[in-house]
Amino acid sequence: MTIGIFDSGIGGLSVLAESLKRLPAENYLYMADTLHVPYGTKTEEQVRSYVLEAVDAMVRQGIDALVIACNTATSIAVQDLRERYSFPIIGMEPAVKPAVEMNRATGKKVLVWATPLTLKMPKYYALVSRVDEDGIVDSLPMPELVQFCESLQFDTDELRNYFSAKLASYDLNDYGILVLGCTHFSYYTNVLQQFLPPHIQIVDGNTGTVRRLSAMLNRYGMEKGRGNGSVRFMCTGGEAAYIEKMKSALSFLTEKDKLTTM
Ligand code: SIN
Repeated sequence: MTIGIFDSGIGGLSVLAESLKRLPAENYLYMADTLHVPYGTKTEEQVRSYVLEAVDAMVRQGIDALVIACNTATSIAVQDLRERYSFPIIGMEPAVKPAVEMNRATGKKVLVWATPLTLKMPKYYALVSRVDEDGIVDSLPMPELVQFCESLQFDTDELRNYFSAKLASYDLNDYGILVLGCTHFSYYTNVLQQFLPPHIQIVDGNTGTVRRLSAMLNRYGMEKGRGNGSVRFMCTGGEAAYIEKMKSALSFLTEKDKLTTM
């Protein structure tokens, strides 16, 4: 089967890397909306129409299931997509629920980083209201981190200065977990592990998303394991250079993952 993975840019490759690890015997079509990245600073109406148009193009290529590997696009368009298509569709959501559960014993707070649009959508508000009984979740928009990622800046002085500036008013001793609520941010787990005090754990939603994808494929009775892990890259702007960039970003993620699990 061909699993479509969609994002505004290279962020969703972090979900693709996890999928290749956990579901290696499927084929993948990865689409980046290079004409409109970044999404997190656009309006809801703009993002909805971008996502529907890009996913329609993926469907024309042939996909059997879809992962919306973008928190912003999920909050805005997952319902529209499910009404439009009957194949399995999995979205992302910031891993606030597991973070709150993991943190309960420590009495510390949870900090969520995401795009401004994700944080202002009712879906995020509903999620936090549902799981944050003790009022321990703080949220911080990090739109510039998407831009750092898109320009392949994974560890520079400028990036570290940006982290310092964004965290200047936070006492990090109060926090036990940082939730990366945007797939672009998963590129920074290693550098953040060095940058943040060692008691802060970093979580993203990628493993949970791929687990839900696998369970959903089973529920739909779809036969898994007939592919060979091939990946086809597409982008809405059709730029050959961006396809090369996606390939090297995917290699970066695979290498980063080796370091993390060593
Ligand atoms: C972006 O395009 O701004 C990133 C979207 C996301 O992953 O939430």
